[in-house]
This record gives sequence, structure tokens and C-alpha cells, in this order.
Amino acid sequence: MSSIQIIVGSMLGGTEYVAEACEETLNSLDHKVEVHLQPDFNHIISKTFPSKNEQNNNSVSEENPIWIICTSTHGAGEYPDNFKQFASDLENCDQDLSTVSFLTIGIGDSSYDTFCKAAQDISKAIISKGCKQITAIKTFDMSEDIDPEDLAQQWILTNSDLI
Ligand SMILES: Cc1cc2nc3c(=O)[nH]c(=O)nc-3n(C[C@H](O)[C@H](O)[C@H](O)COP(=O)(O)O)c2cc1C
Repeated sequence: MSSIQIIVGSMLGGTEYVAEACEETLNSLDHKVEVHLQPDFNHIISKTFPSKNEQNNNSVSEENPIWIICTSTHGAGEYPDNFKQFASDLENCDQDLSTVSFLTIGIGDSSYDTFCKAAQDISKAIISKGCKQITAIKTFDMSEDIDPEDLAQQWILTNSDLI
């Protein structure tokens, strides 16, 4: 079982559905999952590195924490508003995050030159903090007629041996 924080960047709400679909699949795989729709860096850090007391109370291990970033891109390749503070706090943080592994799901529209740039930028920022990327970014293109919730669930299942 892994302890997973799903960190969501969304303006219009679509990415929230994708995150919740991932949560459902991860729960069915017996992971402990929390979804952060309004990501607060310090809160996420406290969930990622629980105190010994919290570990005992919740039977959660501190080992192998995982972040799943689920973000759309807005503006001209920018982070969604609800995600900007998290990204800024991450960049300014000097805590050792090298025990954190992560996956990124990007939601975007390929009619923009900056397709899924927010997902790419946050992935680079997380890697720069020493975190290990579990597998390459998964992107979904909303200009195509797809069901990103279903595809995200399939992607989680395909990668379940890595999580
Ligand atoms: C004003 C605006 C700007 C956008 N800019 C980008 C962009 O730069 N790159 C991209 O890949 N998608 C872009 N998109 C597409 C959104 O990422 C896409 O519609 C996504 O599904 C929105 O997710 P959300 O509902 O979680 O906010 C933009 C959409 C809007 C409305």
C-alpha cells in the first residue's frame, strides 16, 4: 500500500473529475489516497511526511510517499489559478523531498502551442527538488473526443505495478 497525495490544478473543474477517477481506482487497489482540490503546500507536506504519532494512529508508513499531479494548462501555458501558490511554494522550499516519487497527468488542448505546459513545468520543478518520476507524463488532449476519466483509470491500472 502506498500513501498517495493527488494534487489538482483546475480552473473549470474538468481536471477534478479526472483526479477523482484516479482516486477511485487507487482506492480499489488498496492505497491510501487524499485528493487536494485547493492544494496547500504545507498541508501536503504534513500528509506526505506524517509524524510517528499519525503513522501509528493511521497505520500509514512514511516510506515511499507518492504525489500524483493532475493539472490542466490555462492562459498561455500557465498554471491554473488554484495551483499557482503550490508551484511557487514548491520552488521556494528547501526541504529534502528525495523520498517522494511522483506521476503527472496533464490535461490540455493541442490547438495551443503550449500543450500541457503546466504539467511539463511542474514535473521539471518537482524533479529539481530530487523527487523520482515514476513514469513519463501522461497527457490528455481535450480537442479530441475522449473520456479522460476512463483513460486515466486505465493508465493507473497499466502502471499499478510501479505505484
Ligand atoms: C483561456 C484558456 C486557455 C487555455 N490555454 C491552454 C494552454 O496554454 N495549453 C493547453 O494545453 N490547454 C489550454 N487550454 C485548454 C484547457 O487546459 C482544457 O480546456 C482543460 O480541459 C481545462 O481543464 P479544467 O476544466 O480542469 O480547467 C486553455 C483553455 C482556456 C479556456
